[in-house]
This record gives sequence, C-alpha cells and structure tokens, in this order.
Amino acid sequence: MARPQPLLFIFFLIANSFNADAAGVKFELIHRHHLHPGDPLPPRKLVHSDASRAQAISRKVRSRLNASGELPLHSAADYGVGQYLVKLNMGSPGQHLVLIPDTGSDLTWTKCRYKCHDDDCGRIKSGHRSRVFRADRSSSFKTVTCSSTSCQTDLADLFSLTICPSPLHPCAYNYSYVDGTFALGVFAHETVTFSLTNGRKARLRNVLVGCSESSTGRSLLGADGIMGLGYSPNSTAAGVFGGKFSYCLVDHLSPRSASSHLIFGSYKDANVSVARIRHTELVLGAIGTFYAVRVRGISVGGTMLDIPAEVWDFGHGGGAFLDSGTTLTVLTTPAYEPVMAALREPLRGFERVYYGEVGPEYCFNSTGFDERVVPRFVLHFVDGARFEPPVKSYVIDDAPGVKCLGFADGGAGADASIVGNIMQQNHLWEFDFGKRRLGFGPSSCT
Ligand SMILES: *[C@@H]1O[C@H](CO)[C@@H](O)[C@H](O)[C@H]1NC(C)=O
Ligand SMILES: *[C@@H]1O[C@H](CO)[C@@H](O)[C@H](O)[C@H]1NC(C)=O
Ligand SMILES: *[C@@H]1O[C@H](CO)[C@@H](O)[C@H](O)[C@H]1NC(C)=O
Ligand SMILES: *[C@@H]1O[C@H](CO)[C@@H](O)[C@H](O)[C@H]1NC(C)=O
Ligand SMILES: *[C@@H]1O[C@H](CO)[C@@H](O)[C@H](O)[C@H]1NC(C)=O
Repeated sequence: MARPQPLLFIFFLIANSFNADAAGVKFELIHRHHLHPGDPLPPRKLVHSDASRAQAISRKVRSRLNASGELPLHSAADYGVGQYLVKLNMGSPGQHLVLIPDTGSDLTWTKCRYKCHDDDCGRIKSGHRSRVFRADRSSSFKTVTCSSTSCQTDLADLFSLTICPSPLHPCAYNYSYVDGTFALGVFAHETVTFSLTNGRKARLRNVLVGCSESSTGRSLLGADGIMGLGYSPNSTAAGVFGGKFSYCLVDHLSPRSASSHLIFGSYKDANVSVARIRHTELVLGAIGTFYAVRVRGISVGGTMLDIPAEVWDFGHGGGAFLDSGTTLTVLTTPAYEPVMAALREPLRGFERVYYGEVGPEYCFNSTGFDERVVPRFVLHFVDGARFEPPVKSYVIDDAPGVKCLGFADGGAGADASIVGNIMQQNHLWEFDFGKRRLGFGPSSCT
C-alpha cells in the first residue's frame, strides 16, 4: 500500500562547529521539512470538524482547570543543537522527560522501553545519553490495539503500520525521515502531568503518545523524544486548555538555566511579559497540519522586495508557516535570492567565511561588526500585521567571530517557506485555534 510521505522530515542542513562550552561541540542547525518538489501532498484533514471538536473538549476541561498548563522550555544550545527543549512528566508514577517541541509534527513520542527484550531496543544510537521512558514501570500505560479503528484509520496519518499479528497486539508506527532517521514504536495512551499557572498540577489521562523502542538521529541530542504540536486533536493536550497554546523562545544561544515556558491555555494566566501583541490570521489546514500564515511580502531596509506572489500562495503549492522544529528560515528560491542579495550588500566589507556545501550560504568574519549596518528585515502579512525580528535573529552567531545570514534556500519548485525557530526567538507566539489567530510580540521570555 502506498503511504504518504511523512509530514515530519529531519535533515541536517548545517553542521558547523559552534563553541558551546568546549571545542568539538557541533552546533547542528536542524531542519524539518514536509515537502520536496515532486513529493505527494500530505493528506488534507477535515480541520473544521476537528477544530469544533477540540473546542468543545477544551471548554469542558478548561472550566474545570481554570488555569493554564506550563512546561519549562529552554534552548538546546548546551548540546550544540539548534533546537528547544521542554520538560514533561509522564506515566504513573511520573517519569521526567525532555522533548523537542515541534509544531511541524503531530505525534508526541519518547524513547521508550515497553516489552522489548532485544538488548539494543530503547537505546540511543547516537551514543549520547538520554532517558528512556519505562513503559513497563507505568501503571497508566495502555497500548492502542492494532485491531482498533483508531489504528486502522485515525492513526494512518501518524504512520501506523498495517501489521497486526493478533487483535490485541499494539498498534505500531514507523516515522522515517529523509536523512535515514527513524523512530519505530507503538502507540499508547498515557497520563501526562502538567504544572498549572495557579500553582496546582493537572493530570491528563489517556493522552496519545508514541513509545519508540528504536530510534536514530542526531537531531535528538539532548532530547528524549519529540512533542508534536502540529494542528490535530490527537497531537497534544493543546486542545484541552482552551484550544490555544503559546511559547516564548529564549535566545537560541542561552544556556539551559535560561528557561521560559510552553503554555497550554492563555499566556495571560502565565507570567510572560510582552510589551505589545500583534495579530495575524492563523491559517489551519492550508498546508497539512502546519501553522500557516498569509504573507504579503518581505521588506529589507524599508524596501519591498520583488518576490512573485505565487511564493506566498497556498493554491500554488507555496505559502509560509511557522515551525518550532526548524532552525533556519527556509525561503523558496524566488524569495531567498532577493532577501540574500539585500542583506549581503551592506556586509561586503566583511571577509567572507566559507564552510563548503553543508554550511549556510553566507557567513562572514564578524570582527568589527555592528548590527546597525544591517537593514531591518520585516515580514508583512496580508492583513497588515508586521513581524520585525531583531537583527540577531537573521544575522546569527555561528562560531566565535563568525556570523551567518540565517536563511536556507528551499529550492525553486512550488513549496512552502518556513519561519524557523531562530527567527522566532525572543518573541511570544500564541496559536489560537478558536479565533484562528496568531499573536506575537517581542519579549525577553524570562
Ligand atoms: C476562575 O478564575 C476566575 C478569574 O481568576 C475567577 O473569577 C473564578 O472564580 C474562578 N473559577 C473557579 C471555579 O475557580
Ligand atoms: C522503518 O523505516 C525505515 C526507513 O524508511 C526502514 O529502513 C525500515 O525498514 C522500516 N522498518 C519497518 C519495521 O517498517
Ligand atoms: C483522536 O481524536 C478523536 C477525537 O478527539 C478521538 O475520537 C479518537 O479516538 C482519537 N484517536 C486516538 C487514537 O486517540
Ligand atoms: C513574574 O515576573 C516578574 C518579572 O518578570 C518577576 O519579578 C516575578 O517574580 C514573577 N512572578 C512569578 C510568580 O513568577
Ligand atoms: C577575523 O579577522 C580577524 C582580524 O583580521 C582575525 O584575527 C580572525 O582570526 C578572523 N577570524 C576568523 C574566524 O576568520
């Protein structure tokens, strides 16, 4: 049976040396990307009914909780990885996990030991230490059976396998990634514990999770798994807390000790200081389960760049979305080229540094660099809102004395562009399913 390509791809765009704490630490900028030219489109979901269902659930549970859930969030820079990490407590009794919050995927999964007797299972192939969730020690861990309708239909979007040796056998999945990374495991329902903004704790039962008995991939350095925050009622507990969630990404080079929060529910319940919030339409269902936005154009130094309108048009296979699991900002070639040309121009006086094929295209010796020479990059939305990131979010630190333009070329084919996590840093982002609205505003996140 032909299965669609996974929505979640990981590949390593860049593998430059970044001196996080000692020589030899690799700062890998990771890019998850859903579509390549020529790949089939991901399945479009019945997002409307999903949304109303999620909202109905939300209202009920939220009136009971009367607070938002918050998970500590920090940068993975200490591990030399261009990702963020959240801390989560799962199972009964609770086990601590550290997951990559990923708006570009739907399933929350963790490295896990269930009933695997092979010495190798649940072990991290990258050679880095991380935890393994011990499903065999949790009384609330209940596998989804392979004979269930869930397994055979709902979870097909999450790459459930069709193998079903006996009716009560767990429903298995195989997420595979373009770089050869994969996570092989079983679906289960499990209890997740959240800290609430009112100081209490909430135990959410029967949250769909993946128990990956086998996984490979350097993107998981420092992490025990991935928290899927993509738009889907089964992906996370997001729908439970009022149909919205938000996060404030600290500076991507911050040490682990600089922590902010991933908030389920209203950020107003949490102690996030944000000067002013702007809003733009959050387009759900236009590009798979991604959080898409309607972009009008990009200006650099106050001049609108000449980018064809098709680049931002969902109907033409284009458009743009935000992704917490993509590091650099990926622009399709017709947008990438004018942006790079406009930003390179004022940097001509700095000696260029070449990393070869794997590096970002444009890096330079930043001795004597003053960010005032860089014209401001502004993303303009169709409804008039503007996102004006600080210069450090697109002229990024790469290695001591070296800065790079934080963009990657997404290719010339019809494809979506991605606002990556470095571009999103030092801002609060609120994803509101009910109002179909994305809120954002500058914040120190601490
Ligand atoms: C929920 O919070 C609001 C505002 O803080 C308060 O007015 C209300 O009484 C609370 N409701 C319950 C059931 O605790
Ligand atoms: C899982 O996917 C990987 C990569 O596509 C493949 O090599 C492997 O054989 C698959 N395993 C199973 C059990 O389907
Ligand atoms: C997915 O969500 C729907 C609606 O909330 C629910 O009916 C279904 O059972 C869920 N599937 C799984 C596998 O949890
Ligand atoms: C809220 O944030 C302010 C400053 O950002 C801080 O002084 C205060 O201690 C925080 N309160 C709580 C309850 O975390
Ligand atoms: C940058 O230039 C300075 C001064 O010319 C030099 O000392 C330094 O080694 C250079 N750094 C890199 C990374 O090339």
